[in-house]
Amino acid sequence: MGRASRGRAPAAGLVLVAILLAPVQAEIKSGTEFLSPELQRQQADEARNPAFFWVEQGRELFSRKPTPDAQACITCHAEPQQSLRGTATRYPQVDAASGRLLNLEGRIEQCRVERQGQPPFGYETPELLSLTAYVASLSRGLPLDVRTDGPAKPFYEAGKTLFERRQGQLNLSCTQCHDGLVGQKLRGDTISQGVGTAFPAYRLEWNDVGSLHRRLRACSLGVRATQFDYGAPEYLALELYLAARAKGLPVETPGIRR
Ligand code: HEC
Ligand code: HEC
Repeated sequence: MGRASRGRAPAAGLVLVAILLAPVQAEIKSGTEFLSPELQRQQADEARNPAFFWVEQGRELFSRKPTPDAQACITCHAEPQQSLRGTATRYPQVDAASGRLLNLEGRIEQCRVERQGQPPFGYETPELLSLTAYVASLSRGLPLDVRTDGPAKPFYEAGKTLFERRQGQLNLSCTQCHDGLVGQKLRGDTISQGVGTAFPAYRLEWNDVGSLHRRLRACSLGVRATQFDYGAPEYLALELYLAARAKGLPVETPGIRR
């Protein structure tokens, strides 16, 4: 919880004071802790969390050959429960061959194109969301542990800069809300520390599962700032910074959000 108590609407003056104060780095908590107890229970219950449907679809796709002469994911990644357990905790990461920053979606697309010889699924397709949710779910409960040194450093720095930069017509930075106003109410949400540990997640507002980049686009729109494309370098860098902020927090995919 932030410095203001949760669930109570603050006076406008208080909000202003909170914005003006330099944000202090508090202990980082999962967005789940800012949900209602009922949504928390629903998220934890596989039978009532709709996002598990996507995980199930992902599990099926993982075993299916895309074409008769192409290999299924599982042909190369046998026993994914073991072989891919923990993978999601290390993404985004820099791809050694290309020097690009890849998130889990990017890595899956790379296998799809380079190792299965298929056209990419594309961001926010049901296939890529399902496979990403499935692969991430194999790391449920394991602590995030991305690298921010070596080749990852410039990406991390870019993400941090973006997180702290004021943007949009409302001239607000991510940090002003996700550090400075944590615990305050905004349009029915309780502002969290803005980490991505539950994504891809089922959002009630979307009536659908969406990627972390879709959530970031919603925040960009909220402050009337440029919405970058899905998979854009800006959101990838932000994703790395968010994962570094959340270091040690468990992967919770697939989550439920308002
Ligand atoms: C005007 C305040 C505001 C700003 C500025 C803002 N957000 Fe958000 N953000 C929210 C609200 C409200 C939510 C939904 C409740 C929550 O989880 O915090 C949210 C949700 C999120 C989430 C999902 C957290 C979860 O666990 O579901 C992430 C990640 C996030 N924001 C990142 C960012 C980033 C990165 C930026 C800067 C590009 C940003 N936000 C800018 C208000 C803001
Ligand atoms: C022909 C074999 C092959 C197929 C088919 C294949 N992969 Fe891969 N995959 C690999 C190899 C090899 C690596 C390691 C790449 C590297 O480390 O540079 C890898 C890496 C990965 C990683 C990252 C693992 C890590 O620890 O960082 C994920 C996730 C992944 N693949 C998912 C998939 C998915 C999902 C599919 C199906 C859409 C798929 N792969 C199809 C061979 C394959």
